Amino acid sequence: MTSGELMAIAVQAREMAYAPYSGFRVGAALLGKSGKVYTGCNVENASYSPTNCAERTAVFKAVSEGEREFSAIAIVGGMGDQISDFCAPCGVCRQVLSEFCDKDFVLVLGSPAEYKEYSMADVFPFSFGKADLK
Ligand code: THU
Repeated sequence: MTSGELMAIAVQAREMAYAPYSGFRVGAALLGKSGKVYTGCNVENASYSPTNCAERTAVFKAVSEGEREFSAIAIVGGMGDQISDFCAPCGVCRQVLSEFCDKDFVLVLGSPAEYKEYSMADVFPFSFGKADLK
C-alpha cells in the first residue's frame, strides 16, 4: 500500500465524520502490519469532551479487532467540504499512537495533492511510554 493510496482511504473515511459542533471533519486510515486498513473519523458530542478524534477511532477499532502493530497512518482534515493543506494529529492522539507504533511507523500528513511522511520521533519527541514503566 502506498502513502497516496492510504491518503485516498483517509479522504473516504472523512466522509463519515460526525462534526456538527466544530464543522471540522477528519478522516484517518491506519495500516496494520497484517496489511488490513482500519479507518476512523471524528465523532463529536453535545457534551463536547466525549468527542473522539479520527485517529483514535481508527486505533481503537484496530485494537478491538486484535491488531496491535501498525505500519502507517494517513490523516486528512478540514472545515466542511474543504480539505485543508495540513491536519496535525492532536497531542492525545500522538500519545495513543505512540503506545502501538514503533520507530518505522510512518505518519502521512498533508493533503491528497501534497503530503509528506513523518516519523513518531518527528511529531512526538520526549514522549512518555511503556519503557518508562519498566
Ligand atoms: N480532530 C481530530 O479528529 N483529529 C485531530 O487530530 C485533531 C482534531 C477533531 C476533533 C474535533 O471533532 C474536531 O477535529 C475539532 O477539534
